[in-house]
Amino acid sequence: MRIIKAKDYVDMSRKAANVISAQVILKSNAVLGLATGSTVLGTYDQLVEWYQKGDIDFSCVRTVNLDEYIGLSEQAEQSYRHYMEVNFFHKINITSTNTHLPNGMATNLDEECKRYDRLIESLGGIDLQLLGLGHNGHIGFNEPNEAFEKLTHCVELKESTIQANTRFFEDETSVPRRALTMGIKSIMQAKRILLCVSGVQKASVLQQVLTGPVTPAVPGSILQMHPNLTVVADEEALSWYQG
Ligand code: F6R
Repeated sequence: MRIIKAKDYVDMSRKAANVISAQVILKSNAVLGLATGSTVLGTYDQLVEWYQKGDIDFSCVRTVNLDEYIGLSEQAEQSYRHYMEVNFFHKINITSTNTHLPNGMATNLDEECKRYDRLIESLGGIDLQLLGLGHNGHIGFNEPNEAFEKLTHCVELKESTIQANTRFFEDETSVPRRALTMGIKSIMQAKRILLCVSGVQKASVLQQVLTGPVTPAVPGSILQMHPNLTVVADEEALSWYQG
């Protein structure tokens, strides 16, 4: 595991974008596993800036996102497809058919989960998976549980996750209660993982994830087992770390 301490959020975003940019330079048709949420917004902004300067070419890049709410159409402002389009895909030269998210409107959700796993496999697996970290230690929407769910699956969101995500909706009752998410195995099979964490409020959960026991009660703790994990976090999130 490689831990990179950034000065602040802007510095974290720049360092994370550097790792992604290096991946795309090394392999122009890389498969990037992508995340949504607040933490990674600055990373996307930085990549867009470098794209605009002509420093990165996304024309051959393929992407698979971690998760999507169930019951929100692609056009819904709070859907993760919409987030990705607005914050990243529309601003770079990626081919829209190369961008993939689970379909939260699928009529057969079990079949949709299987389709998504087959899709990742058919792309040759994920070269670099970008992750944020939930306050309860979730990665993707793999919530604290009694066992690690391996493959893409349907999940009931925890109350703490619903609370945390209410900021993107009109009120708490409009937050979908269910989502589709890549499973732990799908994430862990990525050749490389980049975990981004920012802010004092994530310090304690980050410490548990990186130094605590590996347990499905803290899903992100499984990342300790990954052979090629890079953590980019700011000083606030790494206040406990002496390295
Ligand atoms: C989103 C996702 C989530 C977020 C996590 C952190 O696609 O997979 O695991 O990365 O909830 O969210 P923020 O960055 O908003 O604190």
